[in-house]
Amino acid sequence: MAASREDAPGGGRYGEAVFRPEQAGEGERIDFGALAYDDITMARMRALGVGPGWRCLDVGAGTGTISRRLLDEAGVDGVLAVDRDVRFLAERPGLDVLEADITSPDAIRGPFRLVHARFVLMHLPEHERVITSLAELVAPGGVLVLSDAVDPTSERTPATPYTRVMRAMWEGLRATIGTDVSWVPSYPQLLRGAGLVSVAAEIHVPPLVPGSPISRFWADTWERSRAAMLATGLVEDGDVEAAVRYLDSDECAALSAGMLTAWGWKSEEEPRR
Ligand SMILES: C[S@@+](CC[C@H](N)C(=O)[O-])C[C@H]1O[C@@H](n2cnc3c(N)ncnc32)[C@H](O)[C@@H]1O
Repeated sequence: MAASREDAPGGGRYGEAVFRPEQAGEGERIDFGALAYDDITMARMRALGVGPGWRCLDVGAGTGTISRRLLDEAGVDGVLAVDRDVRFLAERPGLDVLEADITSPDAIRGPFRLVHARFVLMHLPEHERVITSLAELVAPGGVLVLSDAVDPTSERTPATPYTRVMRAMWEGLRATIGTDVSWVPSYPQLLRGAGLVSVAAEIHVPPLVPGSPISRFWADTWERSRAAMLATGLVEDGDVEAAVRYLDSDECAALSAGMLTAWGWKSEEEPRR
């Protein structure tokens, strides 16, 4: 890994200024996101042929739901789950756990037939260099699978309590820890630029219905990023409360941010010089 940390505009990092793992409920927040997206991720893994014989790397593994499902459902040989904080990850047969910052040089030794990272790179200002480093960890014939958030709303999307706080959340997270989802639709080109082939991508947007995992994920995420949101001046405390009530009501008529998953393969043969 030939990467190093870059500063966010506000100088903060994921897990330090916002989304601190030691704050009560952070594991549950990650699990609500996992509940909304794990089936989609696993369907893509199956379609890509991930299965027995594969050694896998799960970067920024969080609570380890995908690492475990790769072992239990896909039947892969082994998973290395890496995170900057591994308190939510427990080792078990086939599952190795490594505490490391993926922006540090040489944090991880490869190669792996599958390298996966979901909802991690969007929080890293140095994401382009990390994508290059992750591509280097893929074995010949293996695949890099990267998922991050995309916001399908635009300036013409009618204002709702939901869209108002979401705009403040993206702006607040960008200013505080460098989160940026504006580049996520460029994933196919970024993977191609990292030397991968047969690149493709898909998007899933979970329905925002009252009580759904994605609604609970956003409510929890706003709570944890409230200070960053208020600092933008775009919303006040009352707007956040109103948006949480709105998500849980029959009034809710909004389009959630979704998940873009992109993948690309490492050629079996070295390119000719
Ligand atoms: C939003 S959670 C996603 C967890 C999991 N990938 C999922 O989709 O359920 C982001 C995870 O990335 C980890 N993370 C953030 N920055 C990291 C870094 N620089 N190095 C390693 N892990 C990092 C966080 O600790 C957290 O567990």
